[in-house]
Amino acid sequence: MKKILVTGASGNIGKPLVQALRSQGADFELMRSKADQGSAARVASFADVASLRNAFGGIDTLFVLLPLVPNKLELAKNVAQAARDAGVKHIVRSSGAGADRQAAYALPRLQGEIDHVFQATGIATTFLRPAGFMQNYSGFMASMVKAGTVYAATADALQSLIDVRDIAAVAAKVLGNPQAHVGKAYTLTGGESLTDSQRVKILSETLGRPVNFVGVSLEAGNASMATMGMPASIVEWLGSLNALVSAGHAGAISPEVQELLGRQPITFRQFAQDSKGAWL
Ligand SMILES: NC(=O)c1ccc[n+]([C@@H]2O[C@H](COP(=O)([O-])OP(=O)(O)OC[C@H]3O[C@@H](n4cnc5c(N)ncnc54)[C@H](OP(=O)(O)O)[C@@H]3O)[C@@H](O)[C@H]2O)c1
Repeated sequence: MKKILVTGASGNIGKPLVQALRSQGADFELMRSKADQGSAARVASFADVASLRNAFGGIDTLFVLLPLVPNKLELAKNVAQAARDAGVKHIVRSSGAGADRQAAYALPRLQGEIDHVFQATGIATTFLRPAGFMQNYSGFMASMVKAGTVYAATADALQSLIDVRDIAAVAAKVLGNPQAHVGKAYTLTGGESLTDSQRVKILSETLGRPVNFVGVSLEAGNASMATMGMPASIVEWLGSLNALVSAGHAGAISPEVQELLGRQPITFRQFAQDSKGAWL
C-alpha cells in the first residue's frame, strides 16, 4: 500500500478527507503547521523547506492543500522543492476551478501558476479543481446568514457551488488509487447551478426565518474586504472571483464528481439541512 501524507488536514476539505481515508483503511498520516497536543501529526510549515523535506520522508503520495495567503505561490514552490528532494512519487493538489496560467482573472491565473509549479517537478500529478464551496455560507458568511441578510458582489449570477464533503470524497478516491489518475485534472462542481437569491431562499426555508440577499457592486465588495483588513493581494484575488462570477463564468456544471463517485453531488438543500447548527 502507498503511504499518503495529508496537508491542510485541519481545514474545510481536510477534515472530511481524513474521515474518508480512515473509513477506507488507507495508510496515511497528517501534517500540521504546529504541534497539536494529542495529535500524532507530522509537524512542518509550508514556509520552511527543511521542515517539509523532513515531513515528506517515506511518503509516496502527497495531498497538497495550500491556504489562501499572499505568499501562496512561494509556499507552493517550497512544497514542490521538498517533494522532489524527499522522493515523493505522486502529488494530488487541491487547486481551483478554471486554474490556468493564461486566465483573464487573477485568482484562476494564480491557481494555474501553482499547478504549473507542481507539473514542473516531473513528479506525477493529479489536480482537483473545485468550484466555490457551499461551506462558505457556514464559514465566513455565517454571521450574515444569522443576521438575516447576505451581501455579495456576485450580480446574483449562477454558481455551481460544491459541498467540501464531495471534494474530500473525490480526493480520498484518487489517493486510494493514484496511478489511475496520473496526469488528470478534474473540475469539481455541484450538480445544480443557483443564484445567491435562490440559495438564501433555501436557507430561509431550512431555518424557518427570513434570510435576504442584497447585491453590492464589485467596488463596494473590494472596499468592504479592504476595510476588514484583508491584504491587498487577497482583495485582488477575491475581487477577481466576484468579477468572474458576476460575468457569468461560474455557472457551468461539471459531470466529474458524479463520474468519479458514481452518485449525484450533494445538493445545496442537503448542505443547508446538515449545517443548521452554524446559523442558530
Ligand atoms: N472557499 C472556496 O470557495 C474555495 C473554492 C475553491 C478553492 N479554494 C481554495 O481552497 C483552499 C482552502 O481550502 P480549505 O478551506 O479546506 O482550507 P482551510 O480551511 O483554509 O485550511 C487551511 C489549512 O492550511 C494549513 N496551513 C495553513 N498555513 C500553513 C503552513 N504555514 N504550513 C502548513 N500548513 C498550513 C492549515 O493547517 P494547520 O491547522 O495545521 O495550520 C489548514 O489545515 C485555498 O487554497 C482556496 O484558494 C477555496
